[in-house]
This record gives sequence, C-alpha cells and structure tokens, in this order.
Amino acid sequence: MTARENVSQTIDQLAQLVRKRVPAIPRVGLVLGSGLGSFADDLSDLVKIPYQDLDGMPVSAVVGHAGNLCFGKVEGVAVVCMQGRVHLYEGHAPAAVVTGVRLMARLGVSHVLITNAAGGIETSWAAADLMLVIDHLNLTGSSPLTGRNDDTLGPRFPDMTRAYDRNVQEAAREVARSLGIVLREGVYAGLLGPTYETPAEVAMLRMLGAQAVGMSTVHEVIALRHMGVKVGALSCITNMAAGISNELLNHGEVEETARTRREDLKRLLSGWIASVANAKGERG
Ligand code: HPA
Repeated sequence: MTARENVSQTIDQLAQLVRKRVPAIPRVGLVLGSGLGSFADDLSDLVKIPYQDLDGMPVSAVVGHAGNLCFGKVEGVAVVCMQGRVHLYEGHAPAAVVTGVRLMARLGVSHVLITNAAGGIETSWAAADLMLVIDHLNLTGSSPLTGRNDDTLGPRFPDMTRAYDRNVQEAAREVARSLGIVLREGVYAGLLGPTYETPAEVAMLRMLGAQAVGMSTVHEVIALRHMGVKVGALSCITNMAAGISNELLNHGEVEETARTRREDLKRLLSGWIASVANAKGERG
C-alpha cells in the first residue's frame, strides 16, 4: 500500500467512524492548545469521542492535553474541536501530527481556528497577552507534506502567501474590538521542542521577525492549506520567551497563565466562530 493511500484511507475511515456517532456536520473546526481545552466542555449538544476510540488517531501523553474529538454547537454553529493535539516532540511523524486537522477537513469544515500557548518575544508585551497569528516561520525542519503528494488532498506545492486568511483575521480583530479585548498581532515561530528555547535562540528568532514562539500549529496550518481549508490562529502568550524576562520557564506556569485567559478566549472564540460561519452563510 502506498503512503498516498494510507493518508486518504486513514482519514476516510476516521470520517466514517465519526459520522456514525455525530448528528450534525461541522462547519468550523477548532484546535485547542495547552490549558485551553475546556472550551470544548461548554459546547451545546456536546458529543465527545476519545482519540483512543478512533483507530488511526494519534494520542498525546502531554499533561494539559486531553485527547478528545468534541462535536457540538457554538452560537448555533456546528463545530468540531480537537481537545488536545499531538506534537512532533512526542516522536510522532509530521504526517501523524496533522491527522486530526485532516479529518476535520475531510468532515467538510470550511475554516479551522487554531489556538496555542506561546512564548512572547516582543519585549513590549506581557504574559497573558493574546496574539492573532498573521504568519509563521516553520523552523521544525520538517513538513507533513514530505513524501509522495496525495493529489486528492491538494497540490504538490501549496501556496503559503496568505496562509492565515485575511477575512478570518479581520473577523478576529472586529470581535476582539467589540468585546474590549486587546489583541496583539505577530509572526509565530514553530520549533520542534521539547526544550524551551535558549536566550540566544530567542534573540535569533527576534532577528528573524518572530513575535512569539511555540511547538505546534505550523504543521497543522500547512496540512489545512494543502487541503484548501481557511485558517485563523490565536496564541495565548503564556510566558515571555527565555531571556526576555528574568523568569525561568515551566509547563505548569504555561498552563496556569492560559487558564487565566480562559473566559476571554471563550468569548473571543465564540464570536470568531459565529463571524466566520456567518460570513459564509453557514450558521445552522
Ligand atoms: N517556547 C516554546 N513553546 C512555548 C513557550 C515558549 O516559551 N511557551 C508556551 N509554549
């Protein structure tokens, strides 16, 4: 069996499993990052499918990353949420890391809104700030698209000029404004991890034009753009990156800080979902 058949077959089989258990076809997908997974528990008409029940869906061992595919409604919009994601640093192959978002695309979502926890590089920012991702640097040295291209998923050489959809960005700005939530904007540098960066690495990332750094998102965005899904992404700046402040970094604080913005993120995400779905006339 070729690699091409594997990817398509895996997501087809997963989609079939899911469709048996879920009434509404989701319009918008969400990926919930470290400390942000609770959003899914508040969905109306919630149906939760543990990744373990989905043969072919990789499972994360990271604290703070529950592993459930959650279906339900937000402001009347049918959504699917990844409550927890897997990371490259856990040893998963780049293609495995994007199984969940490819499944969302196969289920028919038009948009995926991605969240993550990130370290702040921009010195004028502070921990607990929220950042709209306007572009990224994939510094993982890998791509989920290496190997033979699956032409049924997308083109060999996908365009990444507007990887983060402009209308989706504008929707986030408007919703944040209307809610009185300050939304920073910047470039997200995606690294392999699992170490946090050295101060020298953070200084380098700053020179490269990044405002935030994290260990996820970039592969998901690549896979989604490959499949033609529109993408928006939001970082919770859970800490200032190494060497930007005098603090040392630990995962407990990352999760704790994300939790402090939980309510704001919930309001922002809810408004964002309604806005992108309505722009396409897909409420319902
Ligand atoms: N670096 C990388 N990933 C992160 C950070 C960081 O400082 N904070 C949260 N995720």
